[in-house]
Amino acid sequence: MKTVLITGCSSGFGLEIARYFLDREWRVIATMRTPREDVLPRSERLSILPLDVKDPHSIRAAIDAAGPIDVLVNNAGIGFLNALEGTPMDTARDIFETNTLGTIAMTQAVLPQLRERREGVIVNVTSTVTCRPLHLLSVYTASKAAVNAFSESLALELEQFNVRVRVVLPGRAPSTRFGENAQARMQNGFPEPYSALVQQIFANWEKQTSVTHAEDVAQAVWLAATDSSSPFTIPAGEDAVEWYNARAK
Ligand SMILES: NC(=O)c1ccc[n+]([C@@H]2O[C@H](COP(=O)([O-])OP(=O)(O)OC[C@H]3O[C@@H](n4cnc5c(N)ncnc54)[C@H](OP(=O)(O)O)[C@@H]3O)[C@@H](O)[C@H]2O)c1
Repeated sequence: MKTVLITGCSSGFGLEIARYFLDREWRVIATMRTPREDVLPRSERLSILPLDVKDPHSIRAAIDAAGPIDVLVNNAGIGFLNALEGTPMDTARDIFETNTLGTIAMTQAVLPQLRERREGVIVNVTSTVTCRPLHLLSVYTASKAAVNAFSESLALELEQFNVRVRVVLPGRAPSTRFGENAQARMQNGFPEPYSALVQQIFANWEKQTSVTHAEDVAQAVWLAATDSSSPFTIPAGEDAVEWYNARAK
């Protein structure tokens, strides 16, 4: 039986990815900053472990408790929307510590066992915002684009050990807690010189009809984890596929 460890399973994509793999007879290690037993169906194949990807001690404890892992899904992430002038450096650091360095630290912690067994997959969840520039998302986009670049290079050095690396690019998913969680970091509002731009951006979003659903992301992660012929980059969601196909080549 194969084992997947997923970060950020308390809500959204991570929770759905955990359900998806559980339904397909995998052993699932669903990790959460604050573990909750009531969000996933009870199963002998499910372990819920505490994990904060910004905390090296928490990472070590989770990996030690998890036992052998076949697939690591780096899904945990935080969002933020503002002009750069409205982005405190502490917030920029928090975004990179979570989205970028959290992914790198988790990968580093799991990698030795995959290399020794000469088998395994690392799936990094980034975003279609990396396919084309958007207003007010400079720091968030940079944190995810860095993971894309990290993954590309890592994939090359791990080929010799039969360890695959894949990147899943979700589109905009209003149904997860992402926006709500991001808003908690956005209490200071937007700098006044940017207010007309902000209104225009929000109005354009309301016109967008195609979105990404958590199940689209779970399917893409499943493909990445189980199909060795899957592409390196997998867009997840109707809007994501449109964006990915239209990206500047
Ligand atoms: N929703 C979108 O529109 C969208 C689009 C493209 C990509 N993404 C990416 O998809 C991933 C999942 O997002 P989502 O939409 O499912 O949002 P979500 O519902 O907010 O889920 C994010 C998860 O990450 C966890 N997390 C945050 N910081 C963490 C840390 N330091 N250590 C461990 N876990 C941490 C959260 O845990 P807590 O409950 O403890 O906060 C939560 O479980 C993120 O990487 C996000 O950047 C989202």
